[in-house]
Amino acid sequence: MSTTTTDRTDQDERAEVLRNALVDKAIADQKAKGLVMRADVERAMRTVPRDRFIPEATLEEAYKNTAVITKRRGDETVSSVSAPFLIAEMLGQAADALDGLGGRDVLEIGSGGYNAALLRELVGRTGSVTTVDIDADVTDRAAACLAAAGYNDVTVVCADAEHAIEPDRHFDLIIVTVGAWDIPPAWREQLTEGGVLVVPLRTFGTTRSWALRRAGDRLVSHSHRQCGFVAMQGAGAHTMRYVDIADGVHLRLDEGEQIDVDAAKGVLTQPRSEAWAGLDLSPRTRLHDLSLWHATRLREQAVILTAQESAIESGLVAPSWRNGTSATFHNGTLAYRTLRWTDRRFDLGAYGHGPEAFAAAERMVEHMRAWVEAGCPPPELQILPAHTPDGDLPDGAVLDKRHSRLILTFTPQ
Ligand SMILES: C[S@@+](CC[C@H](N)C(=O)[O-])C[C@H]1O[C@@H](n2cnc3c(N)ncnc32)[C@H](O)[C@@H]1O
Repeated sequence: MSTTTTDRTDQDERAEVLRNALVDKAIADQKAKGLVMRADVERAMRTVPRDRFIPEATLEEAYKNTAVITKRRGDETVSSVSAPFLIAEMLGQAADALDGLGGRDVLEIGSGGYNAALLRELVGRTGSVTTVDIDADVTDRAAACLAAAGYNDVTVVCADAEHAIEPDRHFDLIIVTVGAWDIPPAWREQLTEGGVLVVPLRTFGTTRSWALRRAGDRLVSHSHRQCGFVAMQGAGAHTMRYVDIADGVHLRLDEGEQIDVDAAKGVLTQPRSEAWAGLDLSPRTRLHDLSLWHATRLREQAVILTAQESAIESGLVAPSWRNGTSATFHNGTLAYRTLRWTDRRFDLGAYGHGPEAFAAAERMVEHMRAWVEAGCPPPELQILPAHTPDGDLPDGAVLDKRHSRLILTFTPQ
């Protein structure tokens, strides 16, 4: 018995050291992005023992700054304990938008236990945390881990969160920890007036975590961060399609997007044209904001190019980010964003392949210049119900989904 106690104490001490190192790293990473971790989020992260939510992992694995996969279906990851840096950013978004989470009633969509425990720390004794997951294996596991870690006051529900979890129940915060394509009406309706929805939402093939505040029947953005998540299952599931256009190079298409796949497959064998914007940009420039700017302006031609390391090393493609770069595909011509560094600054450009390669590259570059001339504005988002007539929409680029109308705007800085 005494040996076990000593072992456990050693283990706990080692976990604490690793946990503090992880939080220090997350704070430094946020700083590099120009963000500051809130003191309440930092405190929660230094308190919750992440190792208790991944008991099958070693302590070192449990305190890596990465997601840990907890369930696969074939090749697909269907559940994970999310990456700490991402959770910290999303909790920061929520706490900033609500001016602190103390005393708040929170619904988490997508369970793992770890984030629910962090939320439990943040809401304190007078708040409440409910977590819902579509998968009974996940809720059983989350409930067991929460209990083992001493968090006995989190309500764990197994249900498809596309629908309200309880009639007439309202929350100050709904934090979604699964990749969504749309905002089902139940999410808005379960929020109190002024309540906040934090959701990783896919627009034009890329996902960002938006903090959105409810104002009547609309949701208005407060902040956003780049992120990635496993995809939503159940009634709200929406597929993405990858078209192989060469060895290790894909075009990612959002639901409903169509391209001439046969024309796309040979396009990289055609000669390359290039155009450069002649810019001198800081490494902090938020290119994912530019990606949305491009998508809202190039609309039906817009796709996302992804590439494996091998395709870049061989010189086949040179995208600005291999996990998802703005591209266009139109009339058999591909153009995608690239960049080149000089010292610690960079210029943006576009490479084109196909019959109108130079014109397509030039068109992308003109939009890059326009975005920089406007002061590199970030996107702002408003979400209204699908039945809202055109005449009642605010100005901006409209993206229609099944349940909602998204309006994206960029205010010159
Ligand atoms: C990334 S994991 C959640 C991580 C977790 N919040 C944590 O503490 O690390 C995403 C979860 O969303 C769940 N999910 C997917 N679709 C869902 C739906 N329609 N309703 C509720 N949960 C869903 C999956 O089963 C999966 O467990």
